[in-house]
Amino acid sequence: MDELRLKLAIQKSGRLTEPSLDLLVRCGLKISRGKDQLMAYGENMPLDVLFVRDDDIPDLVQEDVCDLGLVGLNVLEEKRLELASRGHAARFQQVRTLDFGRCRLALAVPDGASFEGPSSLRGKRIATTYPYLLEKYLRERDVCAEIVTLSGAVEIAPRLGRADLICDLVSTGSTLQANHLREVETVLESHAVLIRTPLDLPPLKDEWVQRLLMRIDGVQQVRESKYIMLHAPRSALGEIRKLLPGSESPTIIPLEGFPDRVAIHAVCRENVFWETLESLKKAGASALLVLPVEKMLA
Ligand code: PRP
Ligand code: ZN
Repeated sequence: MDELRLKLAIQKSGRLTEPSLDLLVRCGLKISRGKDQLMAYGENMPLDVLFVRDDDIPDLVQEDVCDLGLVGLNVLEEKRLELASRGHAARFQQVRTLDFGRCRLALAVPDGASFEGPSSLRGKRIATTYPYLLEKYLRERDVCAEIVTLSGAVEIAPRLGRADLICDLVSTGSTLQANHLREVETVLESHAVLIRTPLDLPPLKDEWVQRLLMRIDGVQQVRESKYIMLHAPRSALGEIRKLLPGSESPTIIPLEGFPDRVAIHAVCRENVFWETLESLKKAGASALLVLPVEKMLA
């Protein structure tokens, strides 16, 4: 392996795989990946992508095998607690919060079962693949329950008689529904994060980390942003500026032959809805145009 190339670990197959690859592509990375290949070579950046099990991502950064990782906060927090229980400090730094991979670690009981707050958990058997997060949740609520640690297929544990309820990730809720389980309590809200090694990297690698971070910020800003152009009477400028969602200082351009009207161009950091356009029109705007923003660099 080339010591001067960054190594970034992402989930091999799962909910984070597509959005992770999409983010990297939007950051300008071109990768070549053979079928079933575990590593993809970045053709236009000194960055290679490793495809691994999501649970292994914190360890890979912890052990300096990878410099960077894209992983769910759920996996990261579980690992942090596990390390702490063994007297180790986490050696990964969370450097960005990402706008995908939203889900929650939640408690779910069989459809017919009752639940009246955390105290109903007393003496119950709870199946999970997140024993440390669950243990913390129970400890903070002063509840004594039995944690049944499984490596997967947690949702069928109640039916098999191995547990009374479960503590598992919920995203769309379809797994719970298919298994006749009802979500009752959130243990942790989660989303994807970017982690990096706390080690000082050689200058070239460090420079690429900084560039990647800037591009990620740009990509995330752009997803919500729109470029809006319109014509308006000079007298309505104040009102129109107030109507433009999340825009800083719009560009005002004179219109040849129309001394009372101007063109306004602005980047809106929020989506522009039909209702906004209708209000702008009411305020005197015309020739309204909303365009997607392709790239942004602050
Ligand atoms: C989680 C969880 C459920 C499913 C819930 O697994 O264990 O099986 O997702 O999603 P839903 O609410 O949309 O049905 P995950 O994808 O994290 O797989 P992993 O635990 O094997 O990494
Ligand atoms: Zn996993």
